[in-house]
Amino acid sequence: MYIDLHNHFLPNVDDGIKEIEQTLFGLKLAVKEKVSKICFTPHIWAGRYNNTPEKLREVFEWVKREAKGISIELFLGSEVYYSSSLAEDFSKGLYIPIGNEKKYLLVEFSTAVLAQGASNGLYKLMLEGCEPIIAHPERYSYVQKDYECLFDFARSQIPMQVTTQAILGMLGTRAKATAIKLLDEGLVSFIASDAHSPDKRPLLFREAVRFLNRRYGYKTAKRLALDNPKRILEGKGVLPVAGKKGKYSQFV
Ligand SMILES: [Fe+2]
Repeated sequence: MYIDLHNHFLPNVDDGIKEIEQTLFGLKLAVKEKVSKICFTPHIWAGRYNNTPEKLREVFEWVKREAKGISIELFLGSEVYYSSSLAEDFSKGLYIPIGNEKKYLLVEFSTAVLAQGASNGLYKLMLEGCEPIIAHPERYSYVQKDYECLFDFARSQIPMQVTTQAILGMLGTRAKATAIKLLDEGLVSFIASDAHSPDKRPLLFREAVRFLNRRYGYKTAKRLALDNPKRILEGKGVLPVAGKKGKYSQFV
């Protein structure tokens, strides 16, 4: 069984699924993909997706009621767009951390330019008692150019999430090459779907895990798709993940 901690399946709150019927259909497909727990992570991005935790929780409770017959456990989090006021906004309660333990926050960055002072901003968040997670680093152009720009984050043991579709080459050759480079180097803590629809941007867990199994072996694939997502939900620290030839990251 797998756990998906990043997707846009909460209906009509961002650029993800629009109708609850699609959400329910997507959840049924997730069960077929062997996903047993799913955490919705709608965008919270000032000026673009002005979602409040209150509104998101209300939609979540509605979906939970409608999805009662589907054998999948539902959680709520958010995907937050990085800004220099991240820690301050977190302490004001403007974001929803992942799962019930509320220890981790999924943070995405501009795809074009690495935000100045990002390391510092994330460090401030950690001082508030919340661990950031870097969402899909393989999609950022500056990471594609030189993945060493992530070393500051890796040195601070900040978990990084890579996307199933990127691993499978569906987000372009650069994203795929970067995802695999990061996985090879043991810099990735877990995989997630970042699914936006049941069909156009789907979960693809089984196919991605098959790829990981072949390239890195069973233990690494399991750690990426199940063990670490489970630990994040439970508010525990993530385990190191071996990359190519069993190699761990130099920052472990
Ligand atoms: Fe996302």
